[in-house]
Amino acid sequence: VSVTFIDRAGTARQVQAEPGSTLMLAARDNGIPGIVAECGGMAACATCHVYIDDRYLPLTGAMGDDEDALLDFTDERTPNSRLACQVVITPQLEGLIARTPEEQ
Ligand code: FES
Repeated sequence: VSVTFIDRAGTARQVQAEPGSTLMLAARDNGIPGIVAECGGMAACATCHVYIDDRYLPLTGAMGDDEDALLDFTDERTPNSRLACQVVITPQLEGLIARTPEEQ
């Protein structure tokens, strides 16, 4: 599944993500800058905050309570905010675009 990360400067980086894996792991394994993922994907650090493109947001599944609560600690939470470690890669996400925040 091909997904694209766009940083604040507008640089787009397209990577391949394994179905069943997460958006955070795809970023980490491909050295995407702007994703810190301190807790390693436990929904405990909020340093994998991304903004999912409108078109794909409904396809990313429901947000858990932990994720919702943690996102409140991030700077610049928006309706497109998700924790990348909680977004499971599915074939429907082919072409997904995720923007990374200024800071984690
Ligand atoms: Fe820590 Fe996602 S990696 S919350």
